[in-house]
Amino acid sequence: MPAQQEVCILLQSSGSIPSPQKINASFSGAEPFKDFSDGDELTLFVSSRSRNQEKITEVGANRFGFDSRVQVDTLRSLYLTPAFIKEGNKETDIAGVGHKDYGSESTYFKETDSIQYTTVAKFPPVKNLPNTERKRILVTGGAGFVGSHLVDRLMLLGHEVTVLDNFFTGSRTTVSHWVGHPNFEMVRHDVVNPFLIEVDQIYHLACPASPPHYQYNAVKTIKTSFMGTLNMLGLAKRTKARFLITSTSEVYGDPEEHPQREEYWGHVNCIGPRACYDEGKRVAETLTYGYQRQDGVDVRVARIFNTFGPRMNPYDGRVVSNFIIQALKGQDMTVYGDGNQTRSFQYVHDLIDGLILLMNGDETRPTNIGSSHEFTIMEFAEAVRDIVEQIQKDEGVANPKRVNIIHKEMPIDDPQRRRADTARAKEALQWQPRWSVRQGVEEMARYYMKQIAEGKL
Ligand SMILES: NC(=O)c1ccc[n+]([C@@H]2O[C@H](COP(=O)([O-])OP(=O)(O)OC[C@H]3O[C@@H](n4cnc5c(N)ncnc54)[C@H](O)[C@@H]3O)[C@@H](O)[C@H]2O)c1
Repeated sequence: MPAQQEVCILLQSSGSIPSPQKINASFSGAEPFKDFSDGDELTLFVSSRSRNQEKITEVGANRFGFDSRVQVDTLRSLYLTPAFIKEGNKETDIAGVGHKDYGSESTYFKETDSIQYTTVAKFPPVKNLPNTERKRILVTGGAGFVGSHLVDRLMLLGHEVTVLDNFFTGSRTTVSHWVGHPNFEMVRHDVVNPFLIEVDQIYHLACPASPPHYQYNAVKTIKTSFMGTLNMLGLAKRTKARFLITSTSEVYGDPEEHPQREEYWGHVNCIGPRACYDEGKRVAETLTYGYQRQDGVDVRVARIFNTFGPRMNPYDGRVVSNFIIQALKGQDMTVYGDGNQTRSFQYVHDLIDGLILLMNGDETRPTNIGSSHEFTIMEFAEAVRDIVEQIQKDEGVANPKRVNIIHKEMPIDDPQRRRADTARAKEALQWQPRWSVRQGVEEMARYYMKQIAEGKL
């Protein structure tokens, strides 16, 4: 374990978060990243340069009467928080960012491979909104990967957030740092059953999103998409809440048009193994616009393209998590097919910006939210391998030999090309991705390194 270096990090107020907070943090190793410039006191150990080399210290925007700006380091403190290995009386910070400022402080005992939780929690400061501005927001699937980042953002902004989740693919630990907060509530509930609550906005995310999970019980996936969406639209109708559904680029199937515009109707195999998800989301969109036309429900439809980031379920077989974990563990990286199929990947903070803008803006047509930067899977695998090797070198934990990239047979109906046309989001929401894939992979690799060190992976 490299020596610990103490640094003091000042979280500046964005205007959306109360007064400046000082965090005593530490990072391990010498120079964390090469594009780390002098005076970057907010960057912790992850580079914060955007695609055009702009330094990203804040996400969100003050637009459409909804101020969603949050400091990036406040968000990072929620997912890159350290765990501690206790060896006798000595405490070792395995994530390299020093003592956790927020949440309950759990201790991991390496010798016995056990974790001790405390119930005493300190919450991050949240915006003190007047009652007239504070919204009651329901997030279904809020304990999942995307949901948990959305919940962090909405909580920090000072809103009242209720998470509804059956924990099929999500986990309570993704949002446990908010449990006990007066603005937060978590309910174990399956959206296929009706749920009554008074709310102003509904973000409807509940649905397994990765092929192994949505194919595990295909009938349940269709049920979740159809009945879950029906129930949430019924709730929106009754409470007059604005309703946003997270649909997917999978509604385009294996597309014959490239890049995919929202007007494209798609090319989906309705009886293949992916159909439970693809057709489930298509019928969910149909229901959503049915409620809009028939009952005047105020709806928003986000068509999300591949997204990645910390808290992605490491076992859900998605390409980014697979590659990073395989590279970190020194295992062969698996590419399906020849690797010439393309994908575009967006970082989760960009997606959350897009979802919040869509919810609060006026665009009611389906809106693509994704990256338009296209990689072949082979190029991506090589980039991940390089980034992980660099991080391991910086941390002094390099694998003894370079990992290989191996090829396996392509799964059925895997789309060949996928790239978002985001002209609508750009025009209607003034949204476009800011984070580079490199930055995202770095953050995610740090996150999984922590999980591996804690014995969770
Ligand atoms: N991550 C992506 O790249 C991506 C791409 C396109 C669309 N989406 C959509 O975004 C949403 C969130 O995806 P994610 O990546 O966070 O997936 P995830 O699997 O991490 O999260 C889904 C959450 O929904 C919960 N859930 C599933 N079925 C439920 C049910 N019947 N009742 C209550 N809760 C249930 C799960 O427990 C989990 O917490 C999904 O609707 C998905 O279709 C995600």
